[in-house]
Amino acid sequence: MLNDLRRILISRDQIRARVRDLAREMEAVYGNRDAGLTLVPILSGSIIFVADLIRELPIKMKVALMHLSTYRGATTTPGDPQTVVGLTGDVRGRDVIIVDDILDTGRTLARVQAMIQQHQPASLRTCVLLRKPSKAPPEVQADFIGFDIEDVFVVGYGLDYNDFYRNLPEIGELRAELLPDERP
Ligand code: IMP
Ligand code: MG
Repeated sequence: MLNDLRRILISRDQIRARVRDLAREMEAVYGNRDAGLTLVPILSGSIIFVADLIRELPIKMKVALMHLSTYRGATTTPGDPQTVVGLTGDVRGRDVIIVDDILDTGRTLARVQAMIQQHQPASLRTCVLLRKPSKAPPEVQADFIGFDIEDVFVVGYGLDYNDFYRNLPEIGELRAELLPDERP
């Protein structure tokens, strides 16, 4: 698996330290709320991230899952995200944080944010582990951001290519020759 990477972008230690800091940032915002908060991880990309994040968060919380999948023939030309499973928990009146793996064009987050708003949460913020340089419109932004990265295709720590590589403990750039040829 490691042979398929061009290079490691973010090491295990860097991820661990940043996830801990993100949890502290969240604790500073939500720590004093009696009802706690509800995290909504977007499956499948955020599974590893959310598992680590919540264990660093010593506050009352619930988790409600949402599964989205994107039909993509090529990795960088995603179609509209398709909902596979709606929300598994009730977020009405709750303080909610959407947790996703990566903010790229923002299409996924825009869709998820709109869907969750329909359930009338008390508040809604968004956390992403990674953010690529602003292809996302200004109205689709994240409130908690792990790392800003270059515009390269990354895998590992939950992020996949064709559903592979999620189990890599670090985040790396996939070798270009493994990606579909995008030349016209
Ligand atoms: P967006 O809708 O364009 O913001 O893309 C977000 C989704 O695309 C993420 O949840 C990922 O599933 C996928 N994605 C975007 N960039 C990458 C990448 O570099 N590696 C793996 N998945 C990616
Ligand atoms: Mg994904």
